[in-house]
Amino acid sequence: MCAMEIETERHILGLPEMDAQHAYLYSLFDRIEKSPAVTDVPAMKALLKELERYLLFHFASEEHLMRCYNYPGFSIHQSDHESAGNRFIKFLDDFDSAMLNPAALSIFLTGWLMEHSRLSDTEYVIWIKKCRTSLELRKEEIGGGTQI
Ligand SMILES: [Fe+2]
Ligand SMILES: [Fe+2]
Repeated sequence: MCAMEIETERHILGLPEMDAQHAYLYSLFDRIEKSPAVTDVPAMKALLKELERYLLFHFASEEHLMRCYNYPGFSIHQSDHESAGNRFIKFLDDFDSAMLNPAALSIFLTGWLMEHSRLSDTEYVIWIKKCRTSLELRKEEIGGGTQI
């Protein structure tokens, strides 16, 4: 896959607050070594800790946003986050038992985020944008109504 194809696969949602979080996640994924075994244990340990922290933060951010906007697909989306989190925990367990395959972790995380953001995140973004657009329309109506 060439660099341009990778960029195309790294779907942009058009919601800057979440695109920034995705960009940081991708930057962390890119730092995972592409070998079948860990060569630098302390560096991998630090990276896994940051991945764990930031994945949890991102999931919580999206879920909070979805709840604020009463997104109807919340439960399905949340369970998708949960199953990705569970798969990530298995990789953490592999690291603890000195069995981690960093290349497999990198492929899983990058592939998951590409697919999840393109399919699932896009859906809640459409919903939020619709809510915000209707707010803009109301503002125009109110503005129009007060004009004499
Ligand atoms: Fe996301
Ligand atoms: Fe998501």
